[in-house]
Amino acid sequence: MARLPEGFLWGGATAANQLEGAYDVDGKGLSIDDAYPGGKQRFNILKSKDFDWTIDEVKFTYPNHRGIEHYYRFKDDIKLFAEMGFKCYRFSIAWSRIFPLGDEEKPNEKGLKFYDELIDECLKYDIEPVITISHYEMPLNLAKEYGGWKNRKLIDLFENFARVVLNRYADRVKYWMTFNEINSAFHFPAMSQGLIPANGSNDYTNIFQAFNNQFVASSKAVKIAHELNKDIKVGCMIIYATSYGIDSDPQNQLATMQNQQMFNFFCADVQVRGKYPSYTKRLYRDFKVDESRLDISKEDLKWISDYPVDYIGFSYYMSNAVDVTTVDPEKTGGNMLGGVKNPFLEESEWGWQIDPTGLRIGLNELYDRYQVPLFVVENGLGAKDQIEKDGSINDDYRISYLKKHIEAIEAAVNEDGVDLIGYTPWGCIDLVSASTGEMSKRYGFIYVDLDDEGNGTLERKKKKSFYWYKKVIESNGDDLTE
Ligand code: BG6
Repeated sequence: MARLPEGFLWGGATAANQLEGAYDVDGKGLSIDDAYPGGKQRFNILKSKDFDWTIDEVKFTYPNHRGIEHYYRFKDDIKLFAEMGFKCYRFSIAWSRIFPLGDEEKPNEKGLKFYDELIDECLKYDIEPVITISHYEMPLNLAKEYGGWKNRKLIDLFENFARVVLNRYADRVKYWMTFNEINSAFHFPAMSQGLIPANGSNDYTNIFQAFNNQFVASSKAVKIAHELNKDIKVGCMIIYATSYGIDSDPQNQLATMQNQQMFNFFCADVQVRGKYPSYTKRLYRDFKVDESRLDISKEDLKWISDYPVDYIGFSYYMSNAVDVTTVDPEKTGGNMLGGVKNPFLEESEWGWQIDPTGLRIGLNELYDRYQVPLFVVENGLGAKDQIEKDGSINDDYRISYLKKHIEAIEAAVNEDGVDLIGYTPWGCIDLVSASTGEMSKRYGFIYVDLDDEGNGTLERKKKKSFYWYKKVIESNGDDLTE
């Protein structure tokens, strides 16, 4: 008995900068992530006032430069995805492969050709491509010379990029997303907005200006896509971290609601409902935004209201607890955002709180609020894997994590009536971690022989979870046995 509707899109997700490698090949320009050093200090370096995107190969390593060489090995990798039975594959287009500096008029044909081949390879196996137009890797030139997304000129430059890729691939690709984890900028604007202390990330006026520019740019992409083909679906993409008040103190409940509005809902409110939410003024006040410097025109608001997105793609790794009544509560880690430690939850080795029930709650919160289809486009467990003497990799911890999250999804769909397009666990093949640049933080069903220092053969090996996920897909979510 199938547990999810027919046509449910099972698959996996990756991002160009974290797996392609070939960072300076076939005309590709440098992107911001090419300037991100590897190692646990990555975020601290990006947050420091001295960081100015200079690449210093003596002092640091740059794991994204090589990635896992998917650029050269994508046919073998997709063959493995097909063997697992993927119905879809979410990947992103490296903006700097198509427009090396970001502001050229004409695209780089070799870059476009690479994605032609990648898409065709997917289609050969009936795998539906799901494309993120911009996943944390704008051309470095746009961050350095234009000041990142706070500059309105990026709206036109992105529109040009989106027009080129949509025109080229719209005949073969139905599902698109505009900006990966657009709301991550509330906590960490370097990756999604190209904003670091050196170009204004400490002033939230810049961050809100950048949001506005991205909202307008996203609406322009929606217009282009729908004019090309009305069946194309363009989504927004947010990080969702279900929020709980630490206790029933109304102060904690109010803070939780406000945290939800700010982090989980603000961007989707604009991109799905087509207007800035009623609490925007309060956010401006809380973040000390200088409204007199914000440039949000009537025309911007019209773009936003005329071209909302068709669905919500979101990543879900963890939930957060909110506690404003305890002095200095114990904290946990997280992707972009940390939170207060929830005593009911276990953590991953990287301190991310594991909470499958939170996914069911999040799916309900999003569906209740927006009534548009949802797509879980990232979820998974970053963990260290061990290769046994016989060559096997028994990643039971990953299977157990995914199983519980799939059960939560099935409950949300079957019992709560949530409309869900699909499920693409993150890093279906091991790739470079976004927050730390490590290889040892692995998410994949497929192991890649590469360590944190860049040593390894790049050989691909199937983990135990590979066979388990194949069975899950084959049974459409009915057989989750470990
Ligand atoms: C999401 C990003 O935040 O989490 C991915 O969209 C990222 O790019 C993923 O890789 C997992 O985070 P990390 O830091 O473990 O790679």
